[in-house]
Amino acid sequence: MREPGFHCITFGCQMNVNDSQWVARALVRRGFAECALEEADVVFLNTCSVRDKPEQKVHSALGRVHQANPRALVGVAGCVAQQLGESLMRRHPQVRLVAGSDGIVSVPDAFVRLLNEPEARLSFLDFTAAYPDRDPCLGGAEAPAVAYVNIMQGCDNFCAYCIVPFTRGPRKSRSTASVLDECRAWIDRGAGDITLLGQNVNAFGLDGGGDGTTFPGLLRAVAALPGLRRLRFVTPHPRDFSPETVRALAEVPVLCPRLHLPLQSGSDSVLARMGRGYDMARYLALVADMRAARPDVALSTDLIVGFPGESEEEFADTLAAVDAAGFMSSFSFCYSDRPGTRASSMPFKVPHEVQLERLERVQALQDRRAEAWLQSRVGMRTEVLLESPSPRQDGRGPLWQGRDPWGDAVHVRLTEPGRPGLFVPVRIDSARRHSLLASPVPERN
Ligand code: SAH
Ligand code: SF4
Ligand code: F3S
Repeated sequence: MREPGFHCITFGCQMNVNDSQWVARALVRRGFAECALEEADVVFLNTCSVRDKPEQKVHSALGRVHQANPRALVGVAGCVAQQLGESLMRRHPQVRLVAGSDGIVSVPDAFVRLLNEPEARLSFLDFTAAYPDRDPCLGGAEAPAVAYVNIMQGCDNFCAYCIVPFTRGPRKSRSTASVLDECRAWIDRGAGDITLLGQNVNAFGLDGGGDGTTFPGLLRAVAALPGLRRLRFVTPHPRDFSPETVRALAEVPVLCPRLHLPLQSGSDSVLARMGRGYDMARYLALVADMRAARPDVALSTDLIVGFPGESEEEFADTLAAVDAAGFMSSFSFCYSDRPGTRASSMPFKVPHEVQLERLERVQALQDRRAEAWLQSRVGMRTEVLLESPSPRQDGRGPLWQGRDPWGDAVHVRLTEPGRPGLFVPVRIDSARRHSLLASPVPERN
């Protein structure tokens, strides 16, 4: 008999991508093989509800799955599954498994059971008290050059606009020993670049469930693992960014000089209405401390435009903040009402046309800044971690793509054969719109 086939469809943040990759590895360990949607025996749909019309997206994705493969067993997980729960099974009879954020750990075994019990349906929607730890299922396979490791789950901040505390539940830190074990396993398999993941990483250890290790302590412990060349983390919260973490930036060389530090708004009054727990003065002081600790640090951010009641002056403060903080890149979004959040019942919603007009203005500014950042890199010597051959081969020698310590995409023309995971010293020759072109240079002593 052939092995059962599975197919994953993933929406949402890096945590969802990481969860889906784990489900895929766990299914392979259970004898499944990854395949096209049309041939799959089981389909895993991992969902996001952070903004826009997430429920509609999920219903239409389930419609497409049904059209392509009506006989497959479908499991839905992630933030929309947490919200809609078993109603998904009533609306889409093909769905026989729903799992919320803490229920993902049960998904692989549930698929095995459901294949053997065609009448059964299963749901895993409870939040757990502790981090739902899981075997990383790495097997003997080689790791990709870049690995992601969860260090926590959930969030307790309840920023006024955000659904994450409702969909991912209360903050739960993973044990330090378990984080270190997984990092070690990835490094042993060849990963040189690790990103620690969580909704609010620098609150790691503050929930009392851990072993007393705080975030900067964890950073130092991971950084000390032999063989690790680059360490990143996402997403830190400005309010929880402690002086010890700033000091780690100065003292831990494998920490990359690129930080994503969501600002959300440049207006103190909007920040207060959002409940972010900092004002612009505090944010800019933190940025100054980081630059003092690590002069080569480059910052990126998230911004929300058109939060309820946002005036033209308050929006102008956000534009000014992008320059004041010197972001090299930013992601901006129109505020979107999320059910159950405080902001959804706030008065003075900003009309969508006004939101769109503001979004265009902030995006034009950030495009200029992103371009200037890439241009400023030309001539610089740096190191690229190769990930894969570049799709733009032109016959003039092997062209590979990878990332530099700032996370920028770099295409490099090699003089010798490449392989994923290889660190190549380069000089940046030129900047494209979203990436850099580089040539190898001899290693410096
Ligand atoms: N935990 C991270 C990211 C949360 S979600 C943090 O605290 O920064 C990722 C981004 O989505 C947020 O930074 C925010 O900019 C955006 N976002 C969240 N809720 C939103 C909403 N209701 N409308 C528009 N954007 C939102
Ligand atoms: Fe959402 Fe705020 Fe938590 Fe980030 S810190 S996940 S924006 S509630
Ligand atoms: Fe989306 Fe949930 Fe991540 S809402 S952004 S998948 S935490």
